[in-house]
Amino acid sequence: MSAPLKPDGDGLELVRLGALPWRGWLELTGRDPAAFGAASAGLVYRDKEHHLVLRAPGGGFVGAIGLTLAEVSVGDERFSAVGMGSLIVRRDLRGRGLSGRLSAAARALAAGLGPDRAMLFCEPSLVALHASRGYAPIDAPVFVDQPSGRIAMPLPAMWRPIRPCEWPGGRVDVDGLPF
Ligand SMILES: CC(C)(COP(=O)(O)OP(=O)(O)OC[C@H]1O[C@@H](n2cnc3c(N)ncnc32)[C@H](O)[C@@H]1OP(=O)(O)O)[C@@H](O)C(=O)NCCC(=O)NCCS
Repeated sequence: MSAPLKPDGDGLELVRLGALPWRGWLELTGRDPAAFGAASAGLVYRDKEHHLVLRAPGGGFVGAIGLTLAEVSVGDERFSAVGMGSLIVRRDLRGRGLSGRLSAAARALAAGLGPDRAMLFCEPSLVALHASRGYAPIDAPVFVDQPSGRIAMPLPAMWRPIRPCEWPGGRVDVDGLPF
C-alpha cells in the first residue's frame, strides 16, 4: 500500500504505507541501533502495520511514524488501542516541526482505525513533547512481552483519547510486544 496524501510547502510529501521498507528505516535511523534512545535500545518492539512517511522530492525518507492495533487490559476493562511508535525524523532535519506534522497526520489516521484511545511509550525526555500534543502519562505500571518473558515497561507510557473517553485505573497489560 503506498498512497501519496499531500505535498506540502517545503516539497515534502506525506505518504501512507503498510510496512516500512528496510531501506527507508536505514535512512531514518542512520543505522544507529540506539536511534530511539538508550533505554529503548535494549527492548524488542513489534512491527507496525501502518506507517506515515515524509518523503523528499527525490524519494528519500525524511521522517516516519508507525501505528498498530494493540489489545490492552486495564484493571477489569479490555479494549483495543492504537499503538503509536517509531516516530523519527532524520537527524539533519530535526527542529523544524516535522515530527509535529507526522503526529498530527497519525492522529487523523488513528481516528479511522476504530479504537477510542491511542497509546505510546517514550524516553523520559520526550514526555513534555507528547504532553503538548494531548498525551497524558499513564501512572500505573504497564506490562508487555519481551523475548525473556513478561516485563514492566521501563519507559514512560502515555495515552490520548481519539474519541472522548477516560483511561481506567489499574495495572495495564498490553498483549504482545510494545510498540
Ligand atoms: C523526537 C523527534 C521525532 C522530534 O522530531 P523533530 O521533527 O525534531 O521535532 P519538532 O521539530 O516537531 O520539535 C518539537 C519539539 O520537540 C522538542 N524535541 C525534539 N527532540 C527532542 C528530544 N530528543 N528531547 C526533548 N525534546 C525534544 C523540540 O525542542 C521541540 O520543542 P519546541 O516546539 O518547544 O521547540 C526527533 O528528535 C527524533 O527523531 N529523535 C530520535 C527518535 C526518537 O526519540 N523518537 C521518539 C519516539 S517516542
